Amino acid sequence: MKGIILAGGAGSRLAPLTNSISKQLLPVYDKPMIHYPISTLMLAGIRELLIITTPQSREQFEALLGDGSHLGMSFSYATQSAPNGLAEAFLIGESFLAGGPSALALGDNIFHGAGFSGVVRSAAEAKAGASVFAYEVQDPHQFGIVEVGEDGRAISIEEKPVHPKSNWAVTGLYFYDQDVVDIAKTVKPSARGELEITCVNAKYLARGDLDVVQLSRGTTWWDAGTFDSLLQVSNYVRAVERQQRYKVACLEEIAWRQGFISDDDLLRLANNYKNGYKPYLESLLDSSTSS
Ligand code: G1P
Repeated sequence: MKGIILAGGAGSRLAPLTNSISKQLLPVYDKPMIHYPISTLMLAGIRELLIITTPQSREQFEALLGDGSHLGMSFSYATQSAPNGLAEAFLIGESFLAGGPSALALGDNIFHGAGFSGVVRSAAEAKAGASVFAYEVQDPHQFGIVEVGEDGRAISIEEKPVHPKSNWAVTGLYFYDQDVVDIAKTVKPSARGELEITCVNAKYLARGDLDVVQLSRGTTWWDAGTFDSLLQVSNYVRAVERQQRYKVACLEEIAWRQGFISDDDLLRLANNYKNGYKPYLESLLDSSTSS
């Protein structure tokens, strides 16, 4: 399975922060925002990623992330010329996906919690259909909303409904079988002029192939696209990292734990740092040899 990270968009809700820098490059405590969705896809076991940016910010993403080989990954890049909607990712990514299954992660969506990696791994292993992750929110007008029956199956899915049928937001992480590109090609622009990912999901729902995983209370989800959520999630990551010994979404650590890189590779990456990342990464090796 391959992954796509969508890091385009104007970031208008965060202006002036985003006047000259892409939203997904802004810091979330001690790392750039895009590290979080990359970590999500790495935890799902995905090693080949296409990163879709705006034309103006592509070089900065390439400077930050390179070709991914230092992490045992492969990163390629493409651009979305205008914010035409999330489903366009599959039109832009058609040749990259080469007819295979895929995962799409939005560049400003951050997940954290016990057991979350197991949840995404099983979604990545599903053989057919689509899997989405729902999170209970207080402001359902702002999201894609899914209505789930007592049997756990989806009944309806709507983008930013005026009269929401539930409080379960569809988060920005989607797993699809090989049909997604053909399905995305049939989507027409919505009233706001975008190719909505919710239309893709609705088509999977209509053919009885949409799996909805309702995230449990142990998992936290953030859409870091507003001033308040950006600050809140930064404070959250800081609190978690200070309170326990582990970092959240540390790409070098995840690459090593997933077996994408060796102990020696991890040491080399640790030496690139002159701050707290260096002892942190080194300590991972110490604890693995002493346990
Ligand atoms: C997008 C999707 C929406 C989803 C949300 C999650 O909204 O269209 O269905 O709930 O991401 O972050 P947007 O950020 O484009 O408003």
